[in-house]
Amino acid sequence: MTDHWNGRRPAGRIAYVNGRYMQHGDAGVHVEDRGLQLGDAVYEVCRIENGHLLDEEEHLDRLERSLGEIEMAMPMRRGALKLVMAETVRRNHLRDGLLYLQVTRGALKRDHPIPERAPKPTLIMTARGMDEAALARRHADGISVIVCPDQRWGRCDIKTTQLLANLLAKTAARRAGAFEAWLIDGDGFVTEGTSTNVWIVDGDGRVITRDLSHAILPGVTRRVILEAAAEAQIPVVERRFTLAEALSAREAFMSSATGAAIPVTSIDGKKIGDGKPGPLTRRVAELYARRSQERLS
Ligand code: PDD
Repeated sequence: MTDHWNGRRPAGRIAYVNGRYMQHGDAGVHVEDRGLQLGDAVYEVCRIENGHLLDEEEHLDRLERSLGEIEMAMPMRRGALKLVMAETVRRNHLRDGLLYLQVTRGALKRDHPIPERAPKPTLIMTARGMDEAALARRHADGISVIVCPDQRWGRCDIKTTQLLANLLAKTAARRAGAFEAWLIDGDGFVTEGTSTNVWIVDGDGRVITRDLSHAILPGVTRRVILEAAAEAQIPVVERRFTLAEALSAREAFMSSATGAAIPVTSIDGKKIGDGKPGPLTRRVAELYARRSQERLS
């Protein structure tokens, strides 16, 4: 197979594709795969901590929901899926990192409609380490975001692999020296980040995050933070907020499986609060970390 890795093949990485564990560099799917040809696919990303998958059940619940919304069933029983997930982590010798899982509708002669007879779905799993030091720096120092118009489709609650609008906005952010882009809907409200949910803290110390709808992904990390905040009696409001509110917020942060709760210290070059990670953000990050430890032990 051609070398996809510009001569830097990731040594020892193992990918799972449709029942087989393969060298990462040799793994691939059929050219007629509907995931490749039509973006007819959904995915999940799980954090690996201490060799365990964080919030695994919630990620599998969301996978099942995303699949249901596009008229697909789980590619295998949940117990079997968990075994493959664990085995993929094990074969990659990972203590900490990320597990990616994609399910496509499978390979079939290209045609738009959902086929009457479902082909065999394609199931892909890959795992990799993370730059843990860089993540720790982001937690300690906070990150900058830019804002971009939300150009995605009307069902952002489905975790689809169709990520063009997301990747264009993320690219704009990186080219502007920022880490993430916050997406703004047609009414001037912040929907979410390109791969994160968004949060602000108002002048009264209330934590605000956008309410669930078709406009945002129901983040697993978001949900765990909401539960942890409720337990700690931190006031939280689930409602949409404008860019103007975000710019005048006392604190801001974003959440995802890949980064937990990361402080946002500037938006479009304007300092949030005093331009440093805020105390409530730190508290939420600590609560989330503690809860993760409890869940893993
Ligand atoms: N992204 N919103 C979007 C658009 C996302 O893609 C993600 C996750 C989130 C946060 O969801 P969770 O807390 O379940 O990770 C919100 C993953 C990490 C990714 O695409 O890499």
